[in-house]
Amino acid sequence: MLRKFVTLYRHIIDEERLYPDATGQLSDLLADIALACKVISLEVNRAGLIDLMGLTGDENVHGEQVKKLDEYAHTTLVRAMEVSGHLCAIASEESEDFIPVKEKFMGVRPMSKYIIHFDPLDGSSNIDANISIGTIFSVFKRVSSSGPGTLEDCLQQGTKQVAAGYVMYGSSTIMVYTTGRGVHGFTLDPTVGEFLLFHENIKIPKRSKTYSINEGNYTKWSEGLRNYVDDLKSDSKGKNRPYSARYVGSLVADFHRNLLYGGIFMYPGDSKNKNGKLRLLYEANPLAFIVEQAGGRATNGKERILDIVPLNLHQKTPLFIGSEEDVLEAEKYVKS
Ligand code: AHG
Ligand code: MN
Ligand code: MN
Repeated sequence: MLRKFVTLYRHIIDEERLYPDATGQLSDLLADIALACKVISLEVNRAGLIDLMGLTGDENVHGEQVKKLDEYAHTTLVRAMEVSGHLCAIASEESEDFIPVKEKFMGVRPMSKYIIHFDPLDGSSNIDANISIGTIFSVFKRVSSSGPGTLEDCLQQGTKQVAAGYVMYGSSTIMVYTTGRGVHGFTLDPTVGEFLLFHENIKIPKRSKTYSINEGNYTKWSEGLRNYVDDLKSDSKGKNRPYSARYVGSLVADFHRNLLYGGIFMYPGDSKNKNGKLRLLYEANPLAFIVEQAGGRATNGKERILDIVPLNLHQKTPLFIGSEEDVLEAEKYVKS
Protein backbone atom coordinates (compact mmCIF):
# COMPACT_ATOMS: atom_id res chain seq x y z
CA MET A 1 0.00 0.00 0.00
CA LEU A 2 1.36 3.43 -0.89
CA ARG A 3 2.40 5.41 2.19
CA LYS A 4 1.55 9.05 1.48
CA PHE A 5 4.53 10.88 0.02
CA VAL A 6 7.41 9.18 1.74
CA THR A 7 9.93 9.93 -0.97
CA LEU A 8 13.09 7.89 -1.41
CA TYR A 9 15.17 10.82 -0.17
CA ARG A 10 12.97 11.26 2.92
CA HIS A 11 13.34 7.54 3.65
CA ILE A 12 17.12 7.61 3.17
CA ILE A 13 17.44 10.63 5.50
CA ASP A 14 15.23 8.93 8.12
CA GLU A 15 17.53 5.88 7.89
CA GLU A 16 20.60 8.12 8.16
CA ARG A 17 19.24 9.69 11.37
CA LEU A 18 19.45 6.24 12.98
CA TYR A 19 23.24 6.46 12.74
CA PRO A 20 24.33 9.42 14.94
CA ASP A 21 27.80 9.60 13.39
CA ALA A 22 26.47 9.50 9.82
CA THR A 23 27.90 12.26 7.64
CA GLY A 24 25.12 12.09 5.05
CA GLN A 25 27.49 11.02 2.27
CA LEU A 26 25.86 7.63 1.72
CA SER A 27 22.45 9.32 1.63
CA ASP A 28 23.69 11.70 -1.03
CA LEU A 29 25.23 8.85 -3.01
CA LEU A 30 21.98 6.84 -2.98
CA ALA A 31 20.09 9.92 -4.13
CA ASP A 32 22.62 10.39 -6.96
CA ILE A 33 22.13 6.76 -8.03
CA ALA A 34 18.36 7.24 -8.04
CA LEU A 35 18.70 10.39 -10.17
CA ALA A 36 20.91 8.61 -12.72
CA CYS A 37 18.40 5.75 -12.92
CA LYS A 38 15.52 8.18 -13.48
CA VAL A 39 17.46 9.51 -16.48
CA ILE A 40 18.10 5.97 -17.72
CA SER A 41 14.42 5.03 -17.33
CA LEU A 42 13.46 7.89 -19.67
CA GLU A 43 15.79 6.57 -22.35
CA VAL A 44 14.87 2.92 -21.80
CA ASN A 45 11.18 3.70 -22.26
CA ARG A 46 11.89 5.80 -25.36
CA ALA A 47 14.15 3.05 -26.73
CA GLY A 48 11.14 0.76 -26.58
CA LEU A 49 9.33 3.21 -28.89
CA ILE A 50 12.29 3.39 -31.26
CA ASP A 51 12.24 -0.40 -31.31
CA LEU A 52 8.73 -0.25 -32.77
CA MET A 53 10.36 1.25 -35.83
CA GLY A 54 12.73 -1.74 -35.62
CA LEU A 55 9.69 -3.83 -36.70
CA THR A 56 10.82 -3.06 -40.24
CA GLY A 57 13.17 -5.97 -39.43
CA ASP A 58 16.19 -3.71 -39.49
CA GLU A 59 18.19 -5.78 -37.04
CA ASN A 60 21.12 -3.28 -37.06
CA VAL A 61 19.06 -0.50 -35.60
CA HIS A 62 17.79 -2.79 -32.88
CA GLY A 63 21.17 -4.34 -32.25
CA GLU A 64 22.90 -0.93 -31.97
CA GLN A 65 20.04 0.23 -29.75
CA VAL A 66 20.64 -2.52 -27.17
CA LYS A 67 24.36 -1.93 -27.25
CA LYS A 68 23.75 1.80 -27.04
CA LEU A 69 21.48 1.22 -24.08
CA ASP A 70 24.10 -0.73 -22.17
CA GLU A 71 26.64 1.94 -23.04
CA TYR A 72 24.16 4.75 -22.38
CA ALA A 73 23.27 3.40 -18.94
CA HIS A 74 26.97 2.88 -18.15
CA THR A 75 27.97 6.40 -19.22
CA THR A 76 25.04 8.02 -17.42
CA LEU A 77 25.92 6.24 -14.20
CA VAL A 78 29.66 6.92 -14.46
CA ARG A 79 29.05 10.64 -15.09
CA ALA A 80 26.59 10.90 -12.19
CA MET A 81 28.84 8.92 -9.86
CA GLU A 82 32.02 10.87 -10.71
CA VAL A 83 30.52 14.24 -9.88
CA SER A 84 28.87 12.95 -6.69
CA GLY A 85 32.19 13.46 -4.89
CA HIS A 86 31.59 10.44 -2.68
CA LEU A 87 33.41 7.78 -4.69
CA CYS A 88 37.06 6.93 -5.12
CA ALA A 89 36.39 4.15 -7.66
CA ILE A 90 33.65 2.88 -9.97
CA ALA A 91 33.41 -0.68 -11.31
CA SER A 92 30.96 -1.67 -14.04
CA GLU A 93 30.00 -4.70 -16.11
CA GLU A 94 30.68 -2.53 -19.16
CA SER A 95 34.24 -1.62 -18.17
CA GLU A 96 37.04 -4.20 -18.17
CA ASP A 97 38.95 -2.35 -15.42
CA PHE A 98 37.62 -0.32 -12.52
CA ILE A 99 37.53 3.46 -13.03
CA PRO A 100 39.51 5.35 -10.39
CA VAL A 101 37.70 8.64 -9.75
CA LYS A 102 39.92 11.50 -10.90
CA GLU A 103 41.20 13.94 -8.29
CA LYS A 104 39.21 16.76 -9.88
CA PHE A 105 35.98 14.98 -9.12
CA MET A 106 36.94 13.86 -5.63
CA GLY A 107 35.25 15.65 -2.81
CA VAL A 108 37.12 17.29 0.07
CA ARG A 109 38.80 14.57 2.17
CA PRO A 110 37.53 12.37 3.78
CA MET A 111 34.82 12.52 1.11
CA SER A 112 35.07 9.96 -1.72
CA LYS A 113 35.03 7.24 0.91
CA TYR A 114 32.91 4.80 -1.11
CA ILE A 115 33.29 2.56 -4.10
CA ILE A 116 30.47 1.25 -6.28
CA HIS A 117 29.89 -1.77 -8.53
CA PHE A 118 27.07 -1.72 -11.00
CA ASP A 119 25.42 -3.71 -13.75
CA PRO A 120 24.23 -0.70 -15.73
CA LEU A 121 21.56 -2.60 -17.61
CA ASP A 122 20.69 -6.15 -16.60
CA GLY A 123 18.70 -8.25 -19.05
CA SER A 124 19.35 -5.75 -21.83
CA SER A 125 18.92 -8.42 -24.52
CA ASN A 126 15.21 -8.33 -23.55
CA ILE A 127 14.57 -4.67 -24.39
CA ASP A 128 13.28 -5.49 -27.90
CA ALA A 129 10.41 -7.48 -26.36
CA ASN A 130 9.70 -4.72 -23.84
CA ILE A 131 10.49 -7.14 -21.03
CA SER A 132 11.58 -5.59 -17.73
CA ILE A 133 15.27 -4.82 -17.38
CA GLY A 134 17.17 -3.10 -14.61
CA THR A 135 20.22 -1.49 -13.02
CA ILE A 136 21.87 -3.27 -10.08
CA PHE A 137 24.32 -1.56 -7.67
CA SER A 138 26.53 -2.47 -4.71
CA VAL A 139 28.33 0.04 -2.44
CA PHE A 140 31.34 -0.50 -0.16
CA LYS A 141 33.42 1.78 2.04
CA ARG A 142 36.96 2.12 0.66
CA VAL A 143 39.75 0.24 2.44
CA SER A 144 42.61 2.37 1.01
CA SER A 145 43.35 5.55 2.94
CA SER A 146 43.01 8.34 0.37
CA GLY A 147 43.43 9.36 -3.26
CA PRO A 148 41.94 7.49 -6.24
CA GLY A 149 40.55 4.07 -5.35
CA THR A 150 42.48 0.83 -5.81
CA LEU A 151 41.64 -2.70 -6.98
CA GLU A 152 41.74 -3.75 -3.33
CA ASP A 153 38.89 -1.31 -2.65
CA CYS A 154 36.87 -3.10 -5.34
CA LEU A 155 37.57 -6.71 -4.34
CA GLN A 156 35.86 -6.89 -0.95
CA GLN A 157 33.70 -9.70 0.50
CA GLY A 158 29.96 -9.15 0.04
CA THR A 159 29.46 -9.00 3.82
CA LYS A 160 31.24 -5.62 3.74
CA GLN A 161 28.57 -3.96 1.56
CA VAL A 162 27.10 -0.78 3.08
CA ALA A 163 24.26 -0.51 0.55
CA ALA A 164 22.82 -2.45 -2.39
CA GLY A 165 19.81 -2.18 -4.62
CA TYR A 166 18.28 -2.28 -8.05
CA VAL A 167 16.05 -0.17 -10.25
CA MET A 168 13.73 -2.11 -12.53
CA TYR A 169 12.42 -0.48 -15.71
CA GLY A 170 9.15 -2.31 -16.18
CA SER A 171 5.45 -1.44 -16.37
CA SER A 172 6.52 1.16 -13.82
CA THR A 173 10.01 2.08 -12.66
CA ILE A 174 10.70 0.79 -9.17
CA MET A 175 13.69 1.00 -6.86
CA VAL A 176 14.51 -1.49 -4.10
CA TYR A 177 17.40 -0.84 -1.69
CA THR A 178 18.90 -1.84 1.62
CA THR A 179 21.55 -0.28 3.86
CA GLY A 180 21.41 -3.23 6.24
CA ARG A 181 18.20 -2.22 7.99
CA GLY A 182 15.62 -4.07 5.97
CA VAL A 183 14.60 -3.91 2.32
CA HIS A 184 12.42 -1.08 1.03
CA GLY A 185 10.62 -0.64 -2.32
CA PHE A 186 9.71 2.58 -4.11
CA THR A 187 7.71 3.33 -7.23
CA LEU A 188 8.62 6.25 -9.49
CA ASP A 189 5.74 8.68 -9.85
CA PRO A 190 6.66 10.22 -13.22
CA THR A 191 4.31 13.16 -12.69
CA VAL A 192 6.37 14.45 -9.76
CA GLY A 193 9.60 12.62 -10.69
CA GLU A 194 9.90 11.13 -7.21
CA PHE A 195 10.35 7.55 -6.02
CA LEU A 196 7.53 7.09 -3.48
CA LEU A 197 7.67 4.43 -0.75
CA PHE A 198 5.53 1.51 -1.78
CA HIS A 199 6.70 -1.41 0.31
CA GLU A 200 8.67 -1.01 3.57
CA ASN A 201 10.54 -3.95 5.14
CA ILE A 202 9.90 -6.41 2.35
CA LYS A 203 10.13 -10.01 3.60
CA ILE A 204 10.45 -12.99 1.27
CA PRO A 205 8.25 -16.01 2.11
CA LYS A 206 10.31 -18.82 3.70
CA ARG A 207 8.89 -21.41 1.33
CA SER A 208 7.38 -20.92 -2.13
CA LYS A 209 5.94 -22.87 -5.05
CA THR A 210 7.92 -21.18 -7.81
CA TYR A 211 11.29 -21.97 -9.37
CA SER A 212 13.26 -19.98 -11.93
CA ILE A 213 15.98 -21.61 -14.05
CA ASN A 214 16.89 -21.87 -17.73
CA GLU A 215 15.81 -25.48 -18.38
CA GLY A 216 17.48 -25.29 -21.77
CA ASN A 217 20.69 -26.15 -19.93
CA TYR A 218 19.15 -29.30 -18.31
CA THR A 219 21.50 -31.79 -19.96
CA LYS A 220 24.52 -29.84 -18.75
CA TRP A 221 23.43 -29.77 -15.10
CA SER A 222 24.84 -32.00 -12.36
CA GLU A 223 22.84 -35.13 -11.53
CA GLY A 224 21.91 -33.69 -8.13
CA LEU A 225 20.42 -30.56 -9.70
CA ARG A 226 18.51 -32.58 -12.31
CA ASN A 227 17.04 -34.68 -9.50
CA TYR A 228 16.03 -31.52 -7.61
CA VAL A 229 14.25 -29.89 -10.55
CA ASP A 230 12.63 -33.22 -11.51
CA ASP A 231 11.35 -33.45 -7.93
CA LEU A 232 9.95 -29.88 -8.12
CA LYS A 233 7.92 -30.96 -11.16
CA SER A 234 6.66 -34.24 -9.67
CA ASP A 235 3.09 -34.31 -8.48
CA SER A 236 3.73 -35.94 -5.13
CA LYS A 237 0.94 -34.04 -3.38
CA GLY A 238 2.54 -34.48 0.06
CA LYS A 239 5.48 -32.20 -0.64
CA ASN A 240 3.54 -29.21 -2.06
CA ARG A 241 4.53 -30.28 -5.57
CA PRO A 242 4.52 -29.51 -8.49
CA TYR A 243 6.06 -26.02 -8.38
CA SER A 244 5.36 -23.45 -11.10
CA ALA A 245 8.16 -22.48 -13.49
CA ARG A 246 8.68 -18.74 -13.90
CA TYR A 247 11.69 -17.53 -15.93
CA VAL A 248 11.81 -14.11 -17.61
CA GLY A 249 15.49 -14.12 -18.52
CA SER A 250 16.09 -10.77 -16.78
CA LEU A 251 17.69 -11.45 -13.40
CA VAL A 252 16.21 -8.30 -11.86
CA ALA A 253 12.68 -9.22 -12.99
CA ASP A 254 12.94 -12.85 -11.86
CA PHE A 255 14.51 -11.83 -8.55
CA HIS A 256 11.97 -9.09 -7.80
CA ARG A 257 8.98 -11.38 -8.45
CA ASN A 258 10.46 -14.06 -6.20
CA LEU A 259 11.29 -11.48 -3.50
CA LEU A 260 7.63 -10.41 -3.31
CA TYR A 261 5.87 -13.74 -3.87
CA GLY A 262 8.53 -16.24 -2.81
CA GLY A 263 10.54 -18.48 -5.10
CA ILE A 264 13.97 -19.85 -5.87
CA PHE A 265 16.11 -18.50 -8.72
CA MET A 266 18.99 -20.67 -9.90
CA TYR A 267 21.77 -20.00 -12.34
CA PRO A 268 24.00 -23.01 -11.63
CA GLY A 269 27.40 -23.96 -12.91
CA ASP A 270 27.18 -26.70 -15.53
CA SER A 271 29.39 -28.98 -17.63
CA LYS A 272 30.08 -26.07 -20.04
CA ASN A 273 30.44 -23.16 -17.60
CA LYS A 274 31.49 -24.43 -14.19
CA ASN A 275 30.77 -21.07 -12.54
CA GLY A 276 27.57 -20.37 -14.46
CA LYS A 277 26.95 -16.99 -16.12
CA LEU A 278 26.16 -14.42 -13.42
CA ARG A 279 28.84 -12.17 -11.98
CA LEU A 280 29.60 -12.04 -8.25
CA LEU A 281 30.31 -8.35 -7.75
CA TYR A 282 27.45 -6.63 -9.58
CA GLU A 283 24.75 -9.30 -9.77
CA ALA A 284 25.06 -11.97 -7.04
CA ASN A 285 26.45 -9.85 -4.16
CA PRO A 286 23.92 -6.99 -4.20
CA LEU A 287 20.95 -9.36 -4.59
CA ALA A 288 22.36 -11.64 -1.88
CA PHE A 289 22.58 -8.67 0.54
CA ILE A 290 18.98 -7.76 -0.28
CA VAL A 291 17.59 -11.28 -0.03
CA GLU A 292 19.28 -11.93 3.35
CA GLN A 293 17.91 -8.62 4.66
CA ALA A 294 14.47 -9.85 3.52
CA GLY A 295 14.90 -13.17 5.37
CA GLY A 296 15.96 -15.24 2.37
CA ARG A 297 19.14 -17.11 1.44
CA ALA A 298 21.80 -16.85 -1.30
CA THR A 299 24.58 -19.37 -1.93
CA ASN A 300 26.62 -20.83 -4.75
CA GLY A 301 25.11 -24.21 -3.90
CA LYS A 302 27.54 -24.71 -1.04
CA GLU A 303 28.87 -21.41 0.34
CA ARG A 304 27.08 -18.17 1.26
CA ILE A 305 27.49 -15.68 -1.61
CA LEU A 306 28.38 -12.85 0.79
CA ASP A 307 31.30 -14.86 2.21
CA ILE A 308 33.04 -15.32 -1.15
CA VAL A 309 36.32 -13.38 -1.37
CA PRO A 310 36.46 -11.92 -4.91
CA LEU A 311 39.61 -12.51 -6.98
CA ASN A 312 38.68 -10.42 -10.01
CA LEU A 313 36.11 -7.81 -11.05
CA HIS A 314 34.10 -9.96 -13.45
CA GLN A 315 34.32 -13.34 -11.78
CA LYS A 316 31.27 -15.56 -12.15
CA THR A 317 29.50 -17.59 -9.52
CA PRO A 318 26.75 -20.19 -9.50
CA LEU A 319 23.72 -18.58 -7.82
CA PHE A 320 20.91 -20.15 -5.78
CA ILE A 321 18.85 -17.31 -4.30
CA GLY A 322 15.39 -16.79 -2.83
CA SER A 323 13.11 -18.39 -0.23
CA GLU A 324 15.29 -19.82 2.52
CA GLU A 325 13.74 -23.30 2.77
CA ASP A 326 13.77 -23.76 -1.00
CA VAL A 327 17.44 -22.78 -1.27
CA LEU A 328 18.35 -25.11 1.63
CA GLU A 329 16.48 -27.95 -0.08
CA ALA A 330 18.19 -27.28 -3.41
CA GLU A 331 21.59 -27.33 -1.67
CA LYS A 332 20.86 -30.81 -0.25
CA TYR A 333 20.28 -32.18 -3.76
CA VAL A 334 23.21 -30.31 -5.31
CA LYS A 335 25.60 -31.53 -2.59
CA SER A 336 24.36 -35.12 -2.94
P1 AHG B 1 23.13 -8.82 -18.56
O1 AHG B 1 22.07 -8.33 -19.50
O2 AHG B 1 23.53 -7.78 -17.53
O3 AHG B 1 24.31 -9.42 -19.26
O4 AHG B 1 22.49 -9.99 -17.67
C1 AHG B 1 21.80 -11.01 -18.32
C2 AHG B 1 21.67 -12.19 -17.37
C3 AHG B 1 20.53 -12.05 -16.37
O5 AHG B 1 19.81 -10.87 -16.51
C4 AHG B 1 19.63 -13.23 -16.67
O6 AHG B 1 19.18 -13.85 -15.51
C5 AHG B 1 20.52 -14.16 -17.46
O7 AHG B 1 21.42 -13.33 -18.16
C6 AHG B 1 19.75 -14.99 -18.44
O8 AHG B 1 20.70 -15.86 -19.03
P2 AHG B 1 20.19 -17.03 -20.00
O9 AHG B 1 19.65 -16.35 -21.22
O10 AHG B 1 21.44 -17.85 -20.26
O11 AHG B 1 19.15 -17.83 -19.25
MN1 MN C 1 23.20 -8.62 -15.63
MN1 MN D 1 24.23 -5.85 -17.92
